Amino acid sequence: MNDLPLTGLNDWPPTGLNDWPLAGLRLSCREVSLRPIREADLADLAAILPADFEQDPRLELFPGLSDEQNRRRLFFQGYWRALGTWSPSSWVLHLAVAYEGALVGVQTLEGESFPVLRTVDTASWLVPGARGRGLGVAMRTAVLGLAFDRLGAVAAVSSAVAGNAASLGVSRRIGYAENGVGRLVVPGGAVAELQNFRLTAQTWRAAGHGRAVAVEGLPPCLPWFGLPESSVGRG
Ligand SMILES: CC(C)(COP(=O)(O)OP(=O)(O)OC[C@H]1O[C@@H](n2cnc3c(N)ncnc32)[C@H](O)[C@@H]1OP(=O)(O)O)[C@@H](O)C(=O)NCCC(=O)NCCS
Repeated sequence: MNDLPLTGLNDWPPTGLNDWPLAGLRLSCREVSLRPIREADLADLAAILPADFEQDPRLELFPGLSDEQNRRRLFFQGYWRALGTWSPSSWVLHLAVAYEGALVGVQTLEGESFPVLRTVDTASWLVPGARGRGLGVAMRTAVLGLAFDRLGAVAAVSSAVAGNAASLGVSRRIGYAENGVGRLVVPGGAVAELQNFRLTAQTWRAAGHGRAVAVEGLPPCLPWFGLPESSVGRG
């Protein structure tokens, strides 16, 4: 499996792979490879964070910062928050995405009350130059392969504002079904319509998408997802 650029390998994780085994997790699907974001990636990823990636509009903006500075600051804090608050019942896995040896974006997989609900949510972004060639589908497929085929998820949900054709396109391409419409307050106070999607494990398996996904380094991570280390499937 192709690995991502090795920046920061020597200083991360500071306490060794045994104590934070998620650092050794590796996913791949077709031409993309994914691994958990490291501290050393933050500046590089923040520098390519696209302006059209919608961050949670409920997050506070610091009035002394520009929009761009707030976006990068929120990206940094999202990384630290995910690590600092990780628990088997509520986790957010931020993965750096590499294509042709370069970091090109981020794919996030979230599980809220995962051991009980067995449902995951996703978010993602790519640099504009890497879009429109199937990488969005490949990186979403990679984390769904982890969720459905290794972690025992029964459903995945996703949502996107009605005009986000690329995000809607990824969900439709993978086989998610429409699951109602919601409303969202966007920055500036306007209300946007949100299209919700849901994909079941049965639909995922019937489509056979998981055959394209490789996962390495999962067994020691399983307790991080509330699963015994011995429960690993094909990972
Ligand atoms: C969402 C995103 C990650 C998708 O990645 P991508 O590489 O551009 O998408 P893909 O090339 O895999 O295309 C997925 C599907 O959407 C379609 N699609 C992509 N861009 C499209 C566009 N601008 N208009 C219409 N359809 C589009 C593709 O044709 C494809 O469908 P198909 O396979 O049936 O032809 C990327 O566009 C992005 O970073 N957008 C900005 C951030 C964002 O909105 N993130 C999602 C919300 S969290």
